[in-house]
Amino acid sequence: MATTLDRPSSDNAIFAAMEPHDSGNFANNNTPLIRNCWYAAARTHEIDRTPLARKFLGVDVVLYRTEGGEPVAMRNRCPHRSFPLARGTLVGDRLVCGYHGMEFGADGACAHLPAMGHAPATASVRTFPIVDRGPLAWIWMGAPDLANEALIPDTHWLSDPAWGTVSGDFHILCDYVSMHENLIDQTHFPFLHPDTVGTPEYARSKLTASTENGQVVIRRELRDAPPPGVYGKPANIMHKKVDRTSEARFVSPALHTAYARVAVGDPDPGEPGLYRYNITHVFTPETNNSIHYWWFNSRDYRPGDAAIDRFMLEAHTQAYSEDVEALQWINEVVRTDGEEQFDLSFAPDKPGLMARRIMHRLAMAEAG
Ligand code: FES
Ligand SMILES: [Fe+2]
Repeated sequence: MATTLDRPSSDNAIFAAMEPHDSGNFANNNTPLIRNCWYAAARTHEIDRTPLARKFLGVDVVLYRTEGGEPVAMRNRCPHRSFPLARGTLVGDRLVCGYHGMEFGADGACAHLPAMGHAPATASVRTFPIVDRGPLAWIWMGAPDLANEALIPDTHWLSDPAWGTVSGDFHILCDYVSMHENLIDQTHFPFLHPDTVGTPEYARSKLTASTENGQVVIRRELRDAPPPGVYGKPANIMHKKVDRTSEARFVSPALHTAYARVAVGDPDPGEPGLYRYNITHVFTPETNNSIHYWWFNSRDYRPGDAAIDRFMLEAHTQAYSEDVEALQWINEVVRTDGEEQFDLSFAPDKPGLMARRIMHRLAMAEAG
């Protein structure tokens, strides 16, 4: 997956304007994975007293919880003969290898080696910082001394009872760069998602794109238009004209957030004049070509309403399934087609390219 940018066309002028001397440096599925970043490891409830094996950034990890309830993440590979520790046994806070019985504490240090009768001082397994935050546990796979919990991205609305949230997850056979580009690209909405988010009026509305502190932000406003079904039906405002403002944001290699605000100028008696939706896409590269993906759709009205929850879950599962399917089809073509292609890019692709440029910079900075 590459993008040609050196063709002398007017479409490319926009890239030249972005940064004149750096127009080819966009992350793709071959770019080294960015490690110095907090990524979601699992939903917090998935981490319990049964060791859970999961791969992040190409590294096999085992997750479990201590008797005191603290999450633990350690390499899922015994330092003795590479037995996967998740297939061992959890005894107290120690993970006991299923091959020769080495015992590792939550800090990764070997506490006991039965064949020797004591713990060899040099034996340990690597552990990774992991922190519960709302519905997700966040892991740091990068340089240990750079792990700073203050950098875990803010997703506080996911645990705010005033917001009603529905959620789902996918394991996707595609690269996380394509996933980011898909999420910040709204020009595909009317074609890939005609039944949910893709209204023609929205596709024509004016879009602004900018970078803010290493993030890419696109904003849109649409006045006096019919609401899209996915937001209008659950709010029961399909008979109204509304003003829509929305934002989509590449936050970090691990996170994309979006919001929609739907304002009704003449609400029915007792009904709100503003409906707010927050959309949270969290994903973690498993490898260069597979990702763990969790999505959340939150609304600031009628939390816990089962009928609205059901509608939101079905509509968004459909829309995101369409993205997942498209990304997997694309990935398969890119990986298996024998004749190389340099994908064309056009002016409306700018937000995705801005995100890919940031990811490329971060990856290159880590590579030194
Ligand atoms: S492989 Fe784990 S103790 Fe030998
Ligand atoms: Fe999409």
